[in-house]
Amino acid sequence: MKILITGGCGFIGSNFIIHTLQKYPGDSIINLDKLTYAGNPANLAEIANNPRYSFVRGDVCDQKLVPQVMDGCDAVVNFAAESHVDRSITGPEPFLQANFLGVGVVLEACRQLKIPRFVQISTDEVYGSIAQGSADEQAPLRPSSPYSASKAAADLLCLAYHTTYHLPVLITRSTNNYGPRQYPEKLIPLFVSLSLSGKPVPLYGRGENQRDWLFVEDNCQAIDLVLRQGKEGLVYNIGSGNNLTNTEVAKSILTLLNAPLSLIQSVTDRPGHDWRYAVNWDRIKTLGWQPTVDFKEGLKITIDWYQRKL
Ligand SMILES: NC(=O)c1ccc[n+]([C@@H]2O[C@H](COP(=O)([O-])OP(=O)(O)OC[C@H]3O[C@@H](n4cnc5c(N)ncnc54)[C@H](O)[C@@H]3O)[C@@H](O)[C@H]2O)c1
Repeated sequence: MKILITGGCGFIGSNFIIHTLQKYPGDSIINLDKLTYAGNPANLAEIANNPRYSFVRGDVCDQKLVPQVMDGCDAVVNFAAESHVDRSITGPEPFLQANFLGVGVVLEACRQLKIPRFVQISTDEVYGSIAQGSADEQAPLRPSSPYSASKAAADLLCLAYHTTYHLPVLITRSTNNYGPRQYPEKLIPLFVSLSLSGKPVPLYGRGENQRDWLFVEDNCQAIDLVLRQGKEGLVYNIGSGNNLTNTEVAKSILTLLNAPLSLIQSVTDRPGHDWRYAVNWDRIKTLGWQPTVDFKEGLKITIDWYQRKL
């Protein structure tokens, strides 16, 4: 299979490219990435010279370039996005461009070129805060931030392309990922890098917001299954059951690093900060997927990786 990956120099995309090239010796990958601050070619250093891999620097909003690089592909997996909620609050515009208009450009190219498979990488944040229980794929979309609203809008556009044009669209909505190769502005790599240098670890509000932490390699396995075996037109939630408060995550990191818990420092909360995310992922279990990496083990792997890289 020849696959176009967008945003492959970012966190999840780079892990997915390495996963795919290792697992499928017959597959080749084109990686289209704009190389924003979050795109790091070093994430892919180990496969940069692989003859089954090629890189094109470019924007998913580029209506000329996107069909050119997509032509002849058997599948497209769209990871490209502006992904940091805090940045979306201070400046929403790039989020609307990349996360919504960019998806429109990619969808339209898929339609024109009759691409047999398109996977949109979305997020559990589209469901908004879930006070109790969990959101299944039919739950209403109630995004709270410009980031999650741009992702929800893109999901609706993808589903509309399926309904109207029968484009073979699939969507994954995973919970918060952690693991190697993440830009250190997100909670876990930020806390790890600050703790490693003995600096204070800033916790929003009382640190009681809850997220379900999914190890990135588990997410890659899930996306792989959805790409190859998922049912067209369906959304697949991907979760792990590691529901932890931000304080619990910070304490786990500091404890593993033998750093004092006094490094934790409360800071003013994020506006519109969702209290809790939780998804029901029964649907993807029917494809034979389940998470395999428990939080402590995944955190050790992650910390190890940052210790070697920083
Ligand atoms: N990180 C998470 O916990 C998480 C959870 C659920 C869903 N997601 C989704 O997964 C996808 C990947 O997330 P990530 O954490 O790897 O993000 P990331 O910020 O690490 O990487 C995003 C990549 O996209 C590229 N990019 C940005 N705008 C682009 C554009 N206009 N054209 C081409 N490339 C562009 C960047 O250069 C970067 O390489 C995103 O769509 C995100 O919404 C992430």
